[in-house]
Amino acid sequence: MLLKVEDLHVFYGSREVLKGVSFWLDYGQIVCVVGESGSGKTTLLKSLIRLNRASVKGKAIFKGKNLLELSEKELNRIRGKEIGFIFQEPSLYLDPLFKVREQLLECCEEDKKKAEEVLREVGLYETDRILNSYPHQLSGGQKQRVLIAMALIQNPSLILADEPTTALDVSTQKKVLQIFRNLKREGKSILLVTHDFGVVAEVGDYVLVLKEGKVVEEGDVYKIFENPREDYTKELLSSAFID
Ligand SMILES: Nc1ncnc2c1ncn2[C@@H]1O[C@H](COP(=O)(O)OP(=O)(O)OP(=O)(O)O)[C@@H](O)[C@H]1O
Ligand SMILES: [Mg+2]
Repeated sequence: MLLKVEDLHVFYGSREVLKGVSFWLDYGQIVCVVGESGSGKTTLLKSLIRLNRASVKGKAIFKGKNLLELSEKELNRIRGKEIGFIFQEPSLYLDPLFKVREQLLECCEEDKKKAEEVLREVGLYETDRILNSYPHQLSGGQKQRVLIAMALIQNPSLILADEPTTALDVSTQKKVLQIFRNLKREGKSILLVTHDFGVVAEVGDYVLVLKEGKVVEEGDVYKIFENPREDYTKELLSSAFID
């Protein structure tokens, strides 16, 4: 088992936003987290690597270590390298002052070839132009793919991905999902937040349905699709397929 989260509680100030979440993730598995806006999906991902100013209780055992108890220094050794992340708002995670080249190469000893390879993997073929661009010179979808490339380049064993395909057109989305399937085949794991049940169906193994900070339903993907128990899950499913 790669990650085991046990009874995770997260508070912003005195407000409890995650109320005892438990799940686990095996090597080569994609666990999807679905739930309405505000249910705590982003909070869950960020809390695991302590990227928010929240207080946490519970356990998140990753490769035998409780992430929730690590020092900032220990976490910095894990962030990016062992646990990669792709967040919802790419603009917030790309530094406007540095070209893509600097941000992508920062982590991997100036290996330009590797940088070009991951850019192509995410469908950014004009590698020179992209590497020499500042974030504001890229479209939203390109920025999102640069972030995905930044997550991939360090070859982490776990990726936390928050709506990674939302800003992408259908064909790029397909590419990214193919990358996720390849990662899975290599034994990498992904905790994937999405509101898109199409994405869940294509790459997910297991689904957690989050409502107001609690897991209200969970199960194998086919089970959730074929036989959702909770009305909330049924609603999420039906609203996903209306438009
Ligand atoms: N930094 C923060 N400080 C205080 N409250 C926060 C903070 N971030 C999120 N919240 C609150 O925590 C709750 C969960 O937010 P979160 O961002 O985790 O939801 P989400 O499920 O990711 O929603 P969405 O689908 O809209 O991205 C919300 O009520 C939100 O207002
Ligand atoms: Mg969110």
